[in-house]
Amino acid sequence: MWTRRRRWPARRSTWVVLALNESHGEHGARDSVEILAVRGLPEFRPGDDLTGAIVAAAPWLRSGDIVVVTSKVVSKVEGQLVAVPSDPVARDEVRRKLVLEESVKVVARKFRSLITENRLGIVQAAAGIDSSNVAGDELALLPVDPDASALALRNGLRERLGVEVAVVITDTMGRAWRLGQTDAAIGSSGLRVLHSYAGQIDSQGNELSVTRVAIADEVAAAADLVKGKLGGVPVAVVRGLEIGDNTSTARDLLRPVEDDLFRLGTEESIAQGRQEAVLLRRSLREFTGEPVDPESLRRAVAAGLTAPAPHHTRPVRFVRLAEQREKLLTAMREAWKADLRGDGMPEDWIERRVRRGALLFEATEILLPFLVRDGAHDYPDARRTEAERTMFTIAGGAAVQGVLVALAAEGLGSCWVSSTIFCADVVREVLDLPASWEPLGAVAVGHPVEPLTPRPVSTEDCWVER
Ligand SMILES: Cc1cc2nc3c(=O)[nH]c(=O)nc-3n(C[C@H](O)[C@H](O)[C@H](O)COP(=O)(O)O)c2cc1C
Repeated sequence: MWTRRRRWPARRSTWVVLALNESHGEHGARDSVEILAVRGLPEFRPGDDLTGAIVAAAPWLRSGDIVVVTSKVVSKVEGQLVAVPSDPVARDEVRRKLVLEESVKVVARKFRSLITENRLGIVQAAAGIDSSNVAGDELALLPVDPDASALALRNGLRERLGVEVAVVITDTMGRAWRLGQTDAAIGSSGLRVLHSYAGQIDSQGNELSVTRVAIADEVAAAADLVKGKLGGVPVAVVRGLEIGDNTSTARDLLRPVEDDLFRLGTEESIAQGRQEAVLLRRSLREFTGEPVDPESLRRAVAAGLTAPAPHHTRPVRFVRLAEQREKLLTAMREAWKADLRGDGMPEDWIERRVRRGALLFEATEILLPFLVRDGAHDYPDARRTEAERTMFTIAGGAAVQGVLVALAAEGLGSCWVSSTIFCADVVREVLDLPASWEPLGAVAVGHPVEPLTPRPVSTEDCWVER
């Protein structure tokens, strides 16, 4: 028994609570479960009464049963079928278009296969669009809201049979890092979809901390053992598990995107990951204050320093502000005020204006990019001298943008501000830098208040053609 090694005495009152809520503390049945095929269901079409058909085919349903339904039949009765051309090429084109329409994001792409995230947050191949077990001239989309479909079926079964069952709606999915597909829950009602072992003690006396069993997925996979793929058995019943309803739904099984370790990283999605990192960058002017890992900063600067530069030079340098930070920011603020006074602005207006520019004071980290024109060519005329200057200046911009994108890929926010460019002498003096170091502004860095999300981008009007 799981309580055997608990150090505290198994007081009677505690035991009773456990017995009522969690029985033996395990997510599974103590001895056995039954998995029963529901046979004799008809071929479903849009508008059919799925609940009525299950009631007719399984009048033996009992309270506590888990009714497991293949999403395909839910899609059919809900009319989630799309007519497709019979010509294979045209059909494939329509299918690919539908996959993108059903998706909010392409997560990975390999050759012609797409793994996408759909509107509900479900990540799977081809947005779950499928031609198996549907007529040859149709494709089935996933149900619009499988959790709602599960709830409706559960309510219907209660009304018609007087039973309190749980309902799980399944789809067949591949799994990252493992071959072979299994069924998983995409809709659920009446079942605790996750069972957490956090704080429980195993038979060796170890406290479990991270184990959370996806019960709804285990139920889905188990039911597939009797439903199969060919025999026209889209519904099965799992009997003998404690359903322990806690109002959770299949949505609770979706990993939040910000917890996804591989969001930008798999080999198949690396090109897309890079593109997405570019789109993640935006100027953020507010940070949480949580310390920034110096290694993340280092990686981002190193990535930025790989930017192209003229004549194989390395003209960009970075300063990470540390001890001199306050002194420099204060000196820069005074220099700014002096400029504004020179413009004839009133003192109270200057104070207000400068207060609005507190971004750098509030940044978690500050990186200062500089340009050093070592290796630039000399020309006797102004035209080419100016062109050479431009070349180096734009190389500085490329490096800074590289850092900003790399920071975004590290999950860090940034804002590139001009400040130091306008008070170059002050910056060099406070930081004791040579006259050849030309400030390229300042980059405020910190953890974003909201997780970074890629911004939408239009590929229209990218260029003019000549
Ligand atoms: C060279 C340069 C100087 C900038 N200076 C400032 C600045 O002084 N203050 C500021 O808030 N933003 C500054 N920005 C950020 C721009 O305002 C910002 O990039 C622009 O609004 C577009 O927003 P996005 O970066 O989110 O796309 C600067 C950007 C660049 C490239």
